[in-house]
Amino acid sequence: MVYQGIKGTHDLYGAEADAYTYIQNVFSAVAELYGYRKIETPILEYTEVFDRSTGESSDVVRKEMYTFLDKGDRSLTLRPEGTAGVIRSIVEHKLYATGDLPIKAFYVGPVFRYERPQLGRYRQFIQAGVEAVGVDSARLDAECICLAMKVLAYLGFENLKVKVNTLGDETSRKNYKEALRSFFASKIDSMCEDCKQRLLLNPMRILDCKVKEDQEIASLAPKMKDYLSDEASKRFYQTLSILADQEIDYEIDDSLVRGLDYYGQIVFEVHAMSKEGKDYGALLGGGHYDGMMSNFNGPKENDSGVGFAMGVERLYSLMKDNGMLENLEYGVDLYLMPIGEEVMDDCYSLAESLRDAGYSVEMPFVKGKLGTLFKKAVRAGAKFALIAGEDDLNNGAVQVKNLATQEQKSVLVEDLQDYLDEQFESLEAHSSCSCGHDHDEGHCCCGEHEEEGHCCCGRHREDQEEGGHCCCQKDEK
Ligand code: HAM
Repeated sequence: MVYQGIKGTHDLYGAEADAYTYIQNVFSAVAELYGYRKIETPILEYTEVFDRSTGESSDVVRKEMYTFLDKGDRSLTLRPEGTAGVIRSIVEHKLYATGDLPIKAFYVGPVFRYERPQLGRYRQFIQAGVEAVGVDSARLDAECICLAMKVLAYLGFENLKVKVNTLGDETSRKNYKEALRSFFASKIDSMCEDCKQRLLLNPMRILDCKVKEDQEIASLAPKMKDYLSDEASKRFYQTLSILADQEIDYEIDDSLVRGLDYYGQIVFEVHAMSKEGKDYGALLGGGHYDGMMSNFNGPKENDSGVGFAMGVERLYSLMKDNGMLENLEYGVDLYLMPIGEEVMDDCYSLAESLRDAGYSVEMPFVKGKLGTLFKKAVRAGAKFALIAGEDDLNNGAVQVKNLATQEQKSVLVEDLQDYLDEQFESLEAHSSCSCGHDHDEGHCCCGEHEEEGHCCCGRHREDQEEGGHCCCQKDEK
């Protein structure tokens, strides 16, 4: 048997895994800027959690869930999205009871959908998402979109299309569904089997059918905007006006209904576009929802929420294709080279003490020729090689070689940390930032001038403790 990963899944290692970590760190740092705190819910939930909230009429629940009976005959499902589990958890632990509303939670983790694998579509993929629950506010809806856009801006995305639509309030949707039912009644016989089901369960789902002929029919269907109550319409435009104030360029797309059942009021997607206007698909999607907590027997008051989730695989693949990850630097600080078996133990101890001093250090476990060790040092991405021969160590010294400039100097082990601190400080002063902008040009990764004192996470550098973290989570040594 040839062992290989399951279709629609993928392994991550090396530079790719580092890039995923970077994307997730930027996302988490931006979520924290908006006051969100991390939540981790289990990947497995009772199937009922998704049936009740994500929705029986959605393709995700009807066709794409990995559902099975466990040994105790309970129906369990690998989560196909993050929202339902988060709301289940908020209700179960009564997180709403403190009165500190909204509860703002962010999450990053794998989700599972039995979809046809293709470019940008996996069966196991990573979602990074947020949910803000317990306050019904057009302003909170807008903030959620601003947060999503800030993540994409910090990652370096430029050509984006923000699509928004409103699904109105309950009355608007009831009237709209009736209008759709009568519109499709005479056409449904020529449409796909799924659409026939959709007409019974939720005719709004027909609007996101992927069959071309059905899409043509659906394009002539009544539009939600004609069934919106005055209140729902007012609320939609209130959010849009906040987005306009924040200079977020959006496009109203009245065919956008989203594939999950829980949405009401505003829904949105952000698509990446090529310079020529080609749509690469949705990087993220989300919207407002009402009544989710009461679905899980939670409170009926303040039962509103808003959130979105972004697909990390899609972000990664576009960033890679467009050279947006090239300036990410990974690798160890130091590669320690024991010259001969005799010095292995001393080097092992030296490596440990340098790690205690905060340097990442790699060393070989078997002896090797100097040329081979240099090649290993370069492959490990080391900035400096520390060459430790028996004579040097007997004199209490090592040779320190800057692998970029090839300059080499003998340094006493007792002075090593000070020497390295100096060297790394001067490297840092001349190095590029993780955004790819040169520090010398006075830019920080947020694109703002360093003089203005911003870090790439958007926080003032002065506010950070010395050695504090930037959004890439690398120490600003
Ligand atoms: P969704 O639109 O189903 O929304 O998924 C969010 C994002 O996950 C998509 O925009 C896309 O980037 C990514 N994605 C979806 N399917 C795949 C796939 N098969 N392979 C790779 N990436 C994929 C939700 O899941 C909602 N829970 C979002 C939300 C949160 N709404 C409110 N709160």
